This record gives sequence, C-alpha cells and structure tokens, in this order.
Amino acid sequence: MQENFSRTGVTRFNEWRQTSSRALVLAGRRAADAPKCLSRRGTARAFRVPPARRRCFAPRSRRRRRRGRHVAREAPDPSVGDTRKGSAMSGTGQRVVVTGGAGGIGAAVVARFVAAGARVMVCDVDASRAAALAESLGQPDQVGACELNATGVESVRNMVSTVAEAWGGADVLVNCVGIMGERPAPVSLIDDADWGRIIDTNLTGPFYCMKYCYDLLKVSHSPVIVNIASRMGLKASPTMPAYVASKHGLIGLTKAAALDLAPEGFRVNAVCPGPIATLMLESSPGLAAKISTSVPMERIGTPEEVAEAVFWLAAPESAFVTGTALSIDGGLSA
Ligand SMILES: NC(=O)c1ccc[n+]([C@@H]2O[C@H](COP(=O)([O-])OP(=O)(O)OC[C@H]3O[C@@H](n4cnc5c(N)ncnc54)[C@H](O)[C@@H]3O)[C@@H](O)[C@H]2O)c1
Repeated sequence: MQENFSRTGVTRFNEWRQTSSRALVLAGRRAADAPKCLSRRGTARAFRVPPARRRCFAPRSRRRRRRGRHVAREAPDPSVGDTRKGSAMSGTGQRVVVTGGAGGIGAAVVARFVAAGARVMVCDVDASRAAALAESLGQPDQVGACELNATGVESVRNMVSTVAEAWGGADVLVNCVGIMGERPAPVSLIDDADWGRIIDTNLTGPFYCMKYCYDLLKVSHSPVIVNIASRMGLKASPTMPAYVASKHGLIGLTKAAALDLAPEGFRVNAVCPGPIATLMLESSPGLAAKISTSVPMERIGTPEEVAEAVFWLAAPESAFVTGTALSIDGGLSA
C-alpha cells in the first residue's frame, strides 16, 4: 500500500515537476530527497514544500541576494523625505532617467520632473534634440543629456555609466522610447524588417534599459520604473500587429518585473496613453482628427496629461501601486 502510494506520489511529483515553476527549486535538490518527502505525508499537500525548507532549497547566491537587498515593507511616511539617497518627496531631489526623453511625451515628462526640482537625464537616440531640451530647461547640474540607442546593449551600458558618474544612482527610470512604424499593415502583409524594428525599439529597448538600470536603481530608497505602453497594449488594432504586440509585451514585462522586484522595494508600472498630440500621431496625416471622433471625451490628449500620471506613479502618493497598466485615454478603454 505504502509502496503503491509512493509510486503514485512519484508519478504525480514528476508531472508536477514538469509544470510547476516551484519544480525548478526542487530540481536543484538531490533526486533521492524528493520521493522521501512525498511518501511521508501521503496527501496532495505533500507536494507543497514547507516555507522554511523552500527557502533553504534556493541557490546560496540567490538567498544572499534576497537577504541583502530586501527593503522594509512599512508604508513610507510622505511627510518625511530621505535626504541620504535622493528624496522621494514628489520629485524634489529625485534622480530621474528618461529614455526617449527628447520626444513629445518624453519632453513633457522631463519638464514635469524638472519643475518639481528633480535631477533629470534626457536620453535619446537623437542626441542633439536631447541636448537642446536639457539646455532649454535648467542648470547643467539639474538636467543632463545623454545619447542612447535603447536597442543596443553597449549604448545602454554607456548611458548607465554616464548616470552612475553623474549621480551615483537613480531613483526613477521612465521608458518613453518607442516608434509606431511608418507602414500600417495587417499580419499577412507586414514587412519582416518593420516587425523587427518595432519589437526591438518598443519592447527590447525598454527591457535593456530596465535590466541595465537595475544596479543604478537598487541604491535608491524608493526605486520606480514607469514604462510608456499604449492603449494598444490593452486593445488591438488590425493594421498594427507589431506595435500592438510590442505594447502588449511591454505591459507583460512591466507586470513580471513588478512581481520580481516588489520584495526589493521597487515599484514598476506602465501607463497606457490613448491618442496624444505628439509628432508620432501627427506624422500620420488626418489620423489625429479621425481618432478624436472615437474618443468618449471627444479630443486627443496632451503630453502633459501623460506626464502628470507618470509623475504620480513615481511619487510616494502612489506607494502601494505596482504592476498596474494605467489608462490615460479619455475613456477609450472603458
Ligand atoms: N503619441 C501617442 O499618441 C502615443 C500613444 C500611446 C503611446 N505612445 C507611446 O509613448 C511613447 C512616446 O511617444 P511620443 O508620442 O512622445 O513619440 P516621439 O516620436 O515624439 O518620441 C519618441 C522618442 O523616442 C526616441 N527614440 C526612438 N527610437 C529610439 C531608440 N532606439 N533609442 C533611444 N531613443 C529612441 C525618438 O528619438 C523620440 O525622441 C512611445 O513609446 C509611444 O509608443 C504614444
């Protein structure tokens, strides 16, 4: 009887091992341990690894990492700024990296943080526009500019080094980088190169920036990442499959990172703008006017309205918000 059960238990364990992510933890154990553990309890619950033991199955390096970087989970007191590592007080003293910062929404985000007293690094593939924006907005020690091609690892690493040299770390990363693609086409007709370019810029670019800015952000008292996705990250359009896929992917990436990094005190969110009056929209003739008729609020939005939401997501007022995709679309997604 016991033997039969053990065999069933082992079979079920093997099935579970293939499908459960927790199996990855167990897979690191000596094979002999697993059946012993299962046959002892004799119920479905036997598959659960007790919390204390689960911890001890994690690789030693990861245990050390978690312990070292864990941030206390008390809600921050919004009346008290942290002057040691850059204050989280509504922009003041925050060190903010904005990728795609020279664009329509990016420039509004940069201006919003600068107005609140933050230090901002404008990072963009268009280096001269980034430099001109930085110059127009503030003192060189408050606003800097940096050339960045978000689709290239080397370029992203250079940007990280520039920020590390300037500030020693960062509190906020805002990924505004993105392109729409010039030739809307359905799945069967989309150009392969267009597909690659859009996915690289809109999804892989923000991914590289999140990945390589991690070391900059982890020294912050309240690290925040905000990704500019799109309404098309929540709802599809038949003629823009690459853009739709990239923005759905970016929202998925945002949620995965939010879960991964929450124990370390990071907050990771996305905003999903509807049609916004920037060059990206205005580059398609007649598009803005056409789209505005379908918006419940009967207008397109402004970059400043998106920037305000980004600013709030980076502020202590939204301290309990992570893993969300916030629509800013005049009711389009309602
Ligand atoms: N404008 C809209 O209606 C709208 C709606 C929803 C979402 N969005 C999203 O908002 C973000 C900003 O859009 P926008 O309207 O300000 O567009 P924009 O074209 O004005 O700005 C995009 C910026 O990204 C930069 N950029 C492009 N490729 C880059 C790269 N590889 N590396 C670094 N920088 C790069 C561009 O130089 C530009 O400054 C985008 O992600 C876009 O998808 C825009």
